[in-house]
Amino acid sequence: MPERPKAPRGTFDVLPGNATLRARALAAAEGIFDRAGFGRIETPVFEDTNLFKRGVGESTDIVEKEMFTFDDLGGRSITLRPEGTAAVCRAYVEHGMHKLAQPVRLWYWGPFFRYEAPQAGRYRQFHQVGLETIGTDDPLADAEAIVILSELLDELEIPGVECRVSSLGSHVARAAYREELTAYLRANEGDLSEDVRRRIDLNPLRAFDAKDESTKGVMENAPKLVERLEGSDAERFAEVRALLDDSGIEHEVDPTLVRGLDYYSHTVFAFTCDRLGAQSEIGGGGRYDGLIAELGGPDTAAVGWAAGIERILLASAAAEPEPTRDVFVAVGDGGQARRAMALVTELRHAGLSAELDLAGRSLKGQLKQANRIGARAVVILEAGDAVQIKDMETGQQRSGDAGRVLEELTGRD
Ligand code: HAM
Repeated sequence: MPERPKAPRGTFDVLPGNATLRARALAAAEGIFDRAGFGRIETPVFEDTNLFKRGVGESTDIVEKEMFTFDDLGGRSITLRPEGTAAVCRAYVEHGMHKLAQPVRLWYWGPFFRYEAPQAGRYRQFHQVGLETIGTDDPLADAEAIVILSELLDELEIPGVECRVSSLGSHVARAAYREELTAYLRANEGDLSEDVRRRIDLNPLRAFDAKDESTKGVMENAPKLVERLEGSDAERFAEVRALLDDSGIEHEVDPTLVRGLDYYSHTVFAFTCDRLGAQSEIGGGGRYDGLIAELGGPDTAAVGWAAGIERILLASAAAEPEPTRDVFVAVGDGGQARRAMALVTELRHAGLSAELDLAGRSLKGQLKQANRIGARAVVILEAGDAVQIKDMETGQQRSGDAGRVLEELTGRD
């Protein structure tokens, strides 16, 4: 027997059983973004590798060890996008969107790729829905972004959601804090994991994300940036929190929230769900005021978030709906399959959902199949022009007029 091919590790097929819930989540997102005035953007699935090195940061886990990077046949290094923000900013600069009325507000939905150890809720190809508000540093934009994510999770009926927020301050405040944290980590080096020790100078804030107990113990007493915010940094954070309070968004300040991408400053946030186990973060984001300039654009403030579709579906209490169809067209004794095809086409044109037998089943088998797909009515084509219409809810059957099946089914004339 030849070996059967399998989907690559950490990837999965979306089968029809799961597709309806995904389509519903997309429709909910479309509705929410549309009502809030966001336009959809679709960027390519692969980009020049340098975009992510510059945008996401060389010392992040994503760029250091999680990217699907390869040379194309022309010898250019390209990378399957691990996240959306850098690409959306690239498009903003490339298309001169700074000349439009600001802010430019965009949303996206699509596949992303990270070479991570697969487990429930963590895949190598996954999907994100996200938004970016580019061209304003108004705290209102931070609050609006958080409110919209909260609205989406509410509409999708995700239970047990918690919102955590923090602030990384301005780049200046962060630089001063970074020195203080580096010194603290150096003083406690012996108790840090190998990985954290290696990155003390490169990316000290990542120590807050460490999973091993010894590093976690050190980090409990580490200086926290959000507790040291001063002046306008502190005011801005207070303003975002007040706006969240006004919008009825319950939230908690988490001083250890640093997030795994280098481009953040000021507000950062994450939504977690207690149903998700180890991969409990369902979505998150923050402000990234330096990124557009980093990518060669004008100095432009921006804020945004992304949420994982698979995590949303894992956490969702919604069950896949039972299938239903308006009509199943069956062929009885002496009936003609060609008439069934023509009738199904006519019914579908008229907006009904209709199926016919494609497997040569007996009439009994066809009625069983009609039941299986949740057909509300079965039209049985018999010899000559004879037609029977069976109401599957009541079980009643009556003779119909072959030329007026649509009218009989819909009650229209
Ligand atoms: P992120 O936190 O890296 O942020 O990813 C956002 C969400 O994507 C996560 O909260 C999680 O739900 C989902 N996710 C990430 N990795 C995986 C994976 N391997 N498998 C399944 N789901 C995953 C960003 O990507 C930023 N671009 C968000 C942002 C937008 N910040 C500003 N604007």
